[in-house]
Amino acid sequence: MSANIAEMESRRAAAKMGGGQRRIDAQHAKGKLTARERLEVLLDEGSFEEMDLYVEHDCVDFGMQDQKIPGDGVVTGSGTINGRLVYVFSQDFTVFGGSLSARHAQKICKVMDAAMKVGAPVIGLNDSGGARIQEGVASLGGYADVFQRNVMASGVVPQLSLIMGPCAGGAVYSPAMTDFIFMVKDSSYMFVTGPEVVKTVTNEIVTQEELGGAITHSSKTSVSDLALENDIEALLAARDFIDFLPSSNRDDAPERPCADAWDRMEPSLDTIIPPNANQPYDMHEVIRKTLDEGEFFEVQPMHAGNILCGFGRIEGKTVGVVANQPMVLAGVLDINSSKKAARFVRFCDAFNIPILTFVDVPGFLPGTDQEHNGIIKHGAKLLFAYAEATVPKITVITRKAYGGAYDVMSSKHLRGDLNYAWPTAEIAVMGAKGAVEIIFRGQDVDGIAAKTKEYEDRFANPFVAASRGYIDEVIYPHSTRRRIALGLRKLRNKALENPWKKHDNIPL
Ligand code: HXC
Repeated sequence: MSANIAEMESRRAAAKMGGGQRRIDAQHAKGKLTARERLEVLLDEGSFEEMDLYVEHDCVDFGMQDQKIPGDGVVTGSGTINGRLVYVFSQDFTVFGGSLSARHAQKICKVMDAAMKVGAPVIGLNDSGGARIQEGVASLGGYADVFQRNVMASGVVPQLSLIMGPCAGGAVYSPAMTDFIFMVKDSSYMFVTGPEVVKTVTNEIVTQEELGGAITHSSKTSVSDLALENDIEALLAARDFIDFLPSSNRDDAPERPCADAWDRMEPSLDTIIPPNANQPYDMHEVIRKTLDEGEFFEVQPMHAGNILCGFGRIEGKTVGVVANQPMVLAGVLDINSSKKAARFVRFCDAFNIPILTFVDVPGFLPGTDQEHNGIIKHGAKLLFAYAEATVPKITVITRKAYGGAYDVMSSKHLRGDLNYAWPTAEIAVMGAKGAVEIIFRGQDVDGIAAKTKEYEDRFANPFVAASRGYIDEVIYPHSTRRRIALGLRKLRNKALENPWKKHDNIPL
């Protein structure tokens, strides 16, 4: 018996060395942790249970039959994060560069299937040279098997990808189909074709970092939701993040004990709106002062800063927050902000997370750039997302809610459950000056000024909308948290279903 155990132990120990000490040292020299070290940081201590430790590839080309490493370049299994079950895979760059063989893919598919069966999130730690070149088409088949599962899991269990090394070619499409992507600065990159191919095809000279590094994807492309400084930061962020999410679309988000009084008054919000309507203020402050303990986990903070998206809690329960940000482009809706918020709203709706919307929006951004790049189609995404969402929706208009953007931002007309306005709200078809210049075209400056004043007095307030029932109540800003907490309590058992359909046809 003890000989058998010794055999098992020596096999385990060999497998855990991955590609060997030299390659582990090389990984460390790049400032990266190994696949197993990463799982130790990600998961609760001692909670990781590995599967498929002994799986090997079956390739017999290019001398591969003599090069077998147990595990085949990916560590898979399950563990817990703050006590909640998650399934994980962690690609091991020390084994054939973390490249994906058919068996490597089969291991990833196995954890995804297991996660789907029990309803638990899948977290993928990506660090791979792409398709296992020696295997050719078998590897491509493996990728497609993973892709298919990413799609089936979408909206069923949360999927989070951490990019912690190379992720290139078709390999990018698995993370791209997961819900959120975190990238590590300087050591991770994602692109469909790398700098060499780009140079050959387009003559452009570009570095890996510029083409597809963490900053590029977190600011320009929005492929990534967050750029973290190093492996540890990324893994700890993933732990915090998962805490906000339900395990599946059949579960509620986890509840956390909350020391912050549900009815905490916040008098500073009564004066946060500047006297001049064109003066900005930081919507982060409104969000933080409303949420439990001021905690707001923002996603895509570097992309489309004119809209803020992220998670927080009210009375210990997760809410998704969407908010126009007057500090950036006056909080206008444009292509990027519409796409960013639409995807976020759809995630929240898929996973039963109530949506809290703070509105201060002067409208859609004018210009040929926006029009020619399809603001009609992209703006429609956000409208569509809010309109189809059946989760509790609470809206607070702090200042401007102009034009079509008023409708879009979770208005009553899109089945907003509770629509509040601060007394500073201005709900109108457009700003007073613009409106007057159109309807009183040709009037002199004094005439325009007088009419603008008249228009402001008539429309730059929440009461016209409230008189029609478009606003449920005009509330004291200091009572915002209390009103939202009460609203969410009321809406806990909200039941609303959309008509049966195979799926909708959101403007993509
Ligand atoms: C097999 C691979 C590999 C791969 C790396 N290795 N990529 N083995 N298949 N795709 C091995 C190397 O041979 C090496 O083995 C070890 O991993 C580390 O690689 P290095 O090149 O020494 O590391 P580094 O200098 O850090 O460069 C990393 C890299 C480079 C940039 C990822 O390895 C590289 O360019 N690899 C090829 C990338 C690629 O073209 N992949 C296929 C893309 S097509 P030893 O034994 O020396 O340690 C694709 C299609 C997917 O992915 C389609 C899905 C639909």
